[in-house]
Amino acid sequence: MRLLGDDAVPLTRADLDLASPDHIAPTLDGLDPSMVVNCAAYTAVDRAEEEEDLATAVNSVAVGVLAEWAAVRSRPMLTFSTDYVFDGFSDEPYVETSPTNPVNAYGRSKLPGETLAVGQGALVVRTSWVISGSHPNFVATILHKVKEQELRVVDDQRGNPTVAADLARASFDALGAGVTGLLHLTNEGETTWYELARTSVGLADLDPSRISPCATEDYPTPARRPAYSVLASERLEDLGLEPLPHWRTSIWHVVDELKTWI
Ligand SMILES: NC(=O)c1ccc[n+]([C@@H]2O[C@H](COP(=O)([O-])OP(=O)(O)OC[C@H]3O[C@@H](n4cnc5c(N)ncnc54)[C@H](OP(=O)(O)O)[C@@H]3O)[C@@H](O)[C@H]2O)c1
Repeated sequence: MRLLGDDAVPLTRADLDLASPDHIAPTLDGLDPSMVVNCAAYTAVDRAEEEEDLATAVNSVAVGVLAEWAAVRSRPMLTFSTDYVFDGFSDEPYVETSPTNPVNAYGRSKLPGETLAVGQGALVVRTSWVISGSHPNFVATILHKVKEQELRVVDDQRGNPTVAADLARASFDALGAGVTGLLHLTNEGETTWYELARTSVGLADLDPSRISPCATEDYPTPARRPAYSVLASERLEDLGLEPLPHWRTSIWHVVDELKTWI
């Protein structure tokens, strides 16, 4: 919304509940947007194990309907997907053509949405570990909690932190260049949740020694997480698009912004 400015119309769940696909076309007909950007999703990874049908309705059925509306009218559409479409058994980064194999309900709920949207000519940006200075996210939670207690953070899941502002800019660059299909966009550089937590705490001038590493198996969750979900793009260079900065460069801005309100 910051990038698009006043011309963009933000829709909340109250304006358009994506779990009710019949409401999508009438709502969009009423607004007649020149492009469709879908940032909404069912993202409760653990709860999705119990609500896979609802997650699939929001993350796939609705995405297909949005994409069809846009395609019929030749309007560009951007929607987001996740590193969790991969199983995490690889030891090298997943590119756009790597085989998918989600290991949890959330990943399964997103995958058909990708196919439907790509089939309608939309741009589907797969990203991972999104953080920002103005929205609930992992870094905000860590900075908030570490003031009150010592924390143990998993050190055996690897991925790419991605700063929302960088992601938004790169996504609109791609959309503006007419890119369609699957595109992996994350900040450069991979890490673990533990390293990300320690780095953030240090940058916030708090005490990194209050963070200690632990294993995924120490904190069983209803949904399995891929141990390795590092993404890379085999398309960016060919498309003439700039890679996103390294996460260690961009995280400064996130922590700076968070410091003002945590
Ligand atoms: N965050 C990450 O680390 C990450 C990683 C990879 C991919 N992604 C993808 O990036 C996109 C954005 O994720 P995010 O982290 O910003 O998610 P988020 O913080 O959970 O926000 C999701 C938004 O979707 C809305 N929503 C949920 N169900 C809805 C429904 N039935 N109808 C209308 N709106 C609904 C939510 O509204 P309420 O506030 O009313 O619930 C919320 O505003 C998603 O496609 C996600 O899969 C995120």
